[in-house]
Amino acid sequence: MKTPYSDAFVFFGASGNLAYEKIFPALQALARRGRLEIPVIGVARSDWTTDEFRAHARNSIKEHGGVDEDAFAKLSARLLYLRGDYKEDSTYEQLREALKDAKQPLHYLAITPSMFETVTHGLARSGCGKNARIIVEKPFGRDLATAQELNHTLRQYFPEDAILRIDHYLGKEPVENLLYFRFANSFLEPIWRHDHVANIQITMAEKFGLRGRGAFYEEVGAIRDVVQNHMLQVLTLLTMETPADAGMVAMNHEKLMVLNAMRPLAASDVARGQFRGYRGEVGVSPDSHVETFAALRLFIDNPRWEGVPFYIRAGKALPVTCTEVTIQLKRPTHPIFDAHHSGQANYLRFRLSPDVFITLGARTKLPGEGMHGTATQLIACHSSQENMMPYERLIGDALRGDNSLFTHGDMVEAAWRVVDPVLSDTALQEYQAGTWGPPSAAQVLTNSDQWHDPVLEDGPCETD
Ligand code: BG6
Repeated sequence: MKTPYSDAFVFFGASGNLAYEKIFPALQALARRGRLEIPVIGVARSDWTTDEFRAHARNSIKEHGGVDEDAFAKLSARLLYLRGDYKEDSTYEQLREALKDAKQPLHYLAITPSMFETVTHGLARSGCGKNARIIVEKPFGRDLATAQELNHTLRQYFPEDAILRIDHYLGKEPVENLLYFRFANSFLEPIWRHDHVANIQITMAEKFGLRGRGAFYEEVGAIRDVVQNHMLQVLTLLTMETPADAGMVAMNHEKLMVLNAMRPLAASDVARGQFRGYRGEVGVSPDSHVETFAALRLFIDNPRWEGVPFYIRAGKALPVTCTEVTIQLKRPTHPIFDAHHSGQANYLRFRLSPDVFITLGARTKLPGEGMHGTATQLIACHSSQENMMPYERLIGDALRGDNSLFTHGDMVEAAWRVVDPVLSDTALQEYQAGTWGPPSAAQVLTNSDQWHDPVLEDGPCETD
């Protein structure tokens, strides 16, 4: 059955950082494509008029992508601002009035996670939630127990297919390409398993610090902010079995199976770090124990991945901003050439940002009389420009009622189950901003494995 297009878009947290950086630019892009012919209502606590709200939207878009006058005029004409406290019934009563005849609104909770349940109840009590869809930002809960509670609350008022748990990584073109590349090429399947793969590592490095998000970050930390969601989603795409087809049901089934096979982390699998200076940031407690860096080792207990370590590393204030996946392949079982070389033999590398490329690391012979070789790379580049921003893509899908790129509640819980044991009491080490995290990051590696540090200057694609 075709799902109806939403007839109003409401976003809570309209004066917040996420709205400023991502939502307004996505809304302008949707307006440009003629896909936002509906009222757009922003709700927040700031004491603004609708005109001030429009000016705020304009500033946001100017800073994040640039104003397209025609598209902005269309968006601006549809914008309405509603000032309110999320705890007050009057806020939802005002919203009910502002929604006028809208029958299938889309509500976006771009707010601090601790307010999700309050707003969900408010929407339900006031009738604003009737026939509506709801987008919930990550992190979805603080741990397994709160995620279960939140799922329970949401499911009391909304059917599962109307609950859209957003993880913007799933709306990224290079992440979709990872999935496509894996299952559209027959040469990968025979080597995509423990007999050939030595380890898989994912690095999500960010050179910047908090960019004004201290209060938000203090509530989450690196594991809740990006590991439980973005990183485990990428790992899931890399490790799931082949789905029966490309439909959402088959995909979600395989994703859930592999998430369920991930072994819950133990304290010894994780290194947590905090960059020096973090405690002096606005919104951060002077004795904060929140991690701004996490490195971890994971195992998947199924026949394909038996014994293969998966390493994930994510952090702020690192040397570069870059997200990369490396599939390190084993050395030949019977090497007749260069048996003792110390370099990497074969690997497959996906750089997901800032530029996009796939590299196959191989060895070739050095010219000369001896049979000696050197490391070389076979590279495929993609354009560094994503033609659709992830938030534009995902809000557009949500308006149409297409939930295939959103996360199912069971998957969110399965991912929490993996990280839950290490959310609180593992040791924290300081690191100097601009380095690859604390020394303890090396301790999560097994065998003689090493982290591969992305080096942007060496990237084979030209960046802007
Ligand atoms: C967000 C995190 O989900 O993802 C941020 O809250 C992080 O801390 C951001 O910086 C990274 O996303 P992107 O698309 O810029 O790589």
